[in-house]
Amino acid sequence: MSKITNETKIVDKFRLIHWLNIRKTTIDVLNQLLSNKINRKISLDDFENLDMYTASEIAEVLSIPVSNILKNPETPSFLYSSKKDLEKTKRPITRDGIHFYNYYTLPSPNGYVAPVLIDILCPKEKLPKLNNGHLESAITLSLGPNDIYARFGKKINKTNWCKFKVNKDPKTKWIVGDNYFEPSYCLHTYSRATDGPGRILSYTTTSHVEDLFTKKLNDDSFNNFLKLSKNKNFKRSLLLQTLEDKGFELEYISKNIKISLVKLRNYFKNKDNLTQKQFQRLCNFANLDPRLFSELKHEEDGVGKLYVSHKDSIKTIRKYKSYTIASIVSSTRFQDLHGYYMKVDKKEKKNIKLDLLDSACSHYLVTGGNMIFYHKKNGKIIKTNCSDGDALWVGSFIEHSFYGKGSLAKISDGQNLNYLEKFDVGNLYNLPFTLKRARKDKVNWGYDN
Ligand SMILES: [Fe+2]
Repeated sequence: MSKITNETKIVDKFRLIHWLNIRKTTIDVLNQLLSNKINRKISLDDFENLDMYTASEIAEVLSIPVSNILKNPETPSFLYSSKKDLEKTKRPITRDGIHFYNYYTLPSPNGYVAPVLIDILCPKEKLPKLNNGHLESAITLSLGPNDIYARFGKKINKTNWCKFKVNKDPKTKWIVGDNYFEPSYCLHTYSRATDGPGRILSYTTTSHVEDLFTKKLNDDSFNNFLKLSKNKNFKRSLLLQTLEDKGFELEYISKNIKISLVKLRNYFKNKDNLTQKQFQRLCNFANLDPRLFSELKHEEDGVGKLYVSHKDSIKTIRKYKSYTIASIVSSTRFQDLHGYYMKVDKKEKKNIKLDLLDSACSHYLVTGGNMIFYHKKNGKIIKTNCSDGDALWVGSFIEHSFYGKGSLAKISDGQNLNYLEKFDVGNLYNLPFTLKRARKDKVNWGYDN
């Protein structure tokens, strides 16, 4: 009996109301459209008790996948995996005919991309075979206990071959090792640099653009979109395209903003530059947000990676709230990925202070010692013990803190709240009201009930 009750609690009434609003459909109209499919009238109060058959019929009427109106499982506040739990996720992979890596997965919410720990097994005498790279950007840390080699290309040179070192200084050991950012399709592979084991923590996070390649654009659209990227300055070709999207030709713009046609043409051909003021004038004229088209030079090497040695990290040691931290790499190419090494040396007190709160969700890997992790859920402070080798995941804007003695590597990413969403939220009108209203909005789009 209870099972049947559960099965009727599948629809998220707020999502259904939202889709009725989007489709400019009233509940009366919905009932008319459903009249030959179900034998009763649905009211707002029924939304939470619909069964799968009814939900599917509603979805068909609204021309949406039924998943658009089903309840999503609540995103957890935190997840914990002990070293033993991680050990259970171990799986070997073979490359170049040898047992090349062991992979282990850190905890993350259902459907999220998660970081992996990788044992490096390719012996030091063997040149490690390259992988094929991947669309998603990544941050990788060398965890040790020994140095390894990292390879990034066919030719062996300074850019493509480096010792991916661990920090051996006991005083700063909590800054575990070298780390780097890897852009899309950067080839990479690793081998041992000694006879001893080596390990990395690698966070290949989610891509925000993957749907462009798999479902949103058909081949004709995609091939024409590709032409925009032929200009070595994509931002300029995107700006020109956007001006055309809004029905502006350069002649017309030139006359109105008093920049010569030749200059404008040369700007879009990368033969000339506009001053900041001229660029602003151009964007203002067409009501364009200049932040979308401004050009940024990214710091990177010949294969697009950005490498930070543990010595570079050590230079960034600083107090942060009740902790000592040091930065790991982050790149302007992908704002969602960043993190820091953390040292905790703090006795437990009666009044627990939850002094950490991030807009991003974060993975913590305990790299040494024993600590107590606290976080707040529904007003209650929850305590979790963690020690060397354990891993935690903490959601966006969850109050938390660490006590005890130990160290952690923290990598944050945008899967809970990404930088594109931050950009868009920043443009919302009447922000506090809009955010509040959009969460669990029961208001219809404006018809008489
Ligand atoms: Fe990778």
